[in-house]
Amino acid sequence: MIRSVRGMRDVLPEESRHWRHAEDAMRAVLLGHGYEEIHLPLLEFTDLFSRGVGEATDIVEKEMYTLADRDGASIALRPEGTASCVRALLQNGLLYNQTQRVFYGGPMFRYERPQKGRYRQFYQLGAEAFGFAGPDVDAELISMGWQLWRALAIEQHARLEINSLGSSASRAAYRLALVTYLEPYARDLDEDSRRRLDTNPLRILDSKHEQTRKVLERAPRLVEFADDESKAHFEVLCALLDERGVEYRINPNLVRGLDYYTHTVFEWITDDLGAQGTICAGGRYDGLVELLGGRPTPAAGFALGVERVLLLREGVLGTEDFSAGADVYCCVLGRQHQALAMRLTGRLREDCPGVRIRTHAGGGKAGNQLRRADACGARVALLVGEDEAASDTVTVKYLREDKPQTTLPSGDLGRLLEAYFS
Ligand code: HAM
Repeated sequence: MIRSVRGMRDVLPEESRHWRHAEDAMRAVLLGHGYEEIHLPLLEFTDLFSRGVGEATDIVEKEMYTLADRDGASIALRPEGTASCVRALLQNGLLYNQTQRVFYGGPMFRYERPQKGRYRQFYQLGAEAFGFAGPDVDAELISMGWQLWRALAIEQHARLEINSLGSSASRAAYRLALVTYLEPYARDLDEDSRRRLDTNPLRILDSKHEQTRKVLERAPRLVEFADDESKAHFEVLCALLDERGVEYRINPNLVRGLDYYTHTVFEWITDDLGAQGTICAGGRYDGLVELLGGRPTPAAGFALGVERVLLLREGVLGTEDFSAGADVYCCVLGRQHQALAMRLTGRLREDCPGVRIRTHAGGGKAGNQLRRADACGARVALLVGEDEAASDTVTVKYLREDKPQTTLPSGDLGRLLEAYFS
């Protein structure tokens, strides 16, 4: 048997139901804030990510799935959505003299070591805002995250960490100071951090290694290097969050693993998922549009990991069944009545939009058909057999409550179902 590729999961019907429910709720929050959905390709030129996300990041250096297109061009399965989103808006002229608020969802690919909550194909839902320089939009994005957790009833299980990386100039000055401080201790650092001294020293702040953390205790701090504008931006953001009642912790070591961030960065973290506790992350990236060939355009956004959010939700709410496969199951008592049953359910789907109606297929005894009706979660079974065909009626059987079954003219059924499911 050929099995799936490591780190790439199937989402089976039961889990899909939970996904759909959660995705609908999250989409409603994003649409409710005036964000508009866009769809982006899974494949992009590799350069987009090496330039956009950064050559020295783990994502580009170690985790990207790249392949040669038939004409030899290097293309990559997208490891994230922000660079693609910028590319798409630029390419289609949507950043010219205008602001944009957009969101996207779909699979991303990273060659990481798979474990619970970490996959090689995983799903993100991301939101990005372009053309807004002030902290008000940072606050909007963050509080939108908060609304998302509320919509999913997991708000008690997600906490917010924020930091400011300053402008790119102040970050460069800090980088120099950090390297100057760390170099004499190079031998005490873990191997990854030693390598990062040359390539991506800010990421060393992220290290979980005990010895490295000890060295870092006396390292210069990012905030000490922030310019006045950056400090003011961060202060206003904090004030807006305070006013909005969104709780946060300032984590001076929060640096993020992608190079494009400036000023605000943030992560939503849960303590309920073990090592893969970051359910959502983002920040401001004022330099990325220009880096990818556009005019300087301030921008900010976030992306959440759908699997992680759902794992958390499942942990909090249990695997309660939100909505099974169908609401109504139409049993066909005799194959000669199949066409009649199909006509009936076809009409009902038009009369009762939103009610999910499954027509039995494959013949079989009434008892077996009713068992299927039960198994798919239907609340109502319809019986179409000899008597019903002769009198143009349908028998309605209630599967989840103690209510007698009734037989009624098939023309009245739409009204009955609509009332029952409203
Ligand atoms: P990121 O931190 O690389 O940021 O990913 C965002 C979220 O995607 C993570 O917080 C996590 O929940 C989820 N995630 C990442 N890798 C995996 C994985 N291997 N398996 C499961 N879930 C994963 C970005 O991608 C930025 N584009 C976010 C952003 C948008 N910044 C500004 N705008």
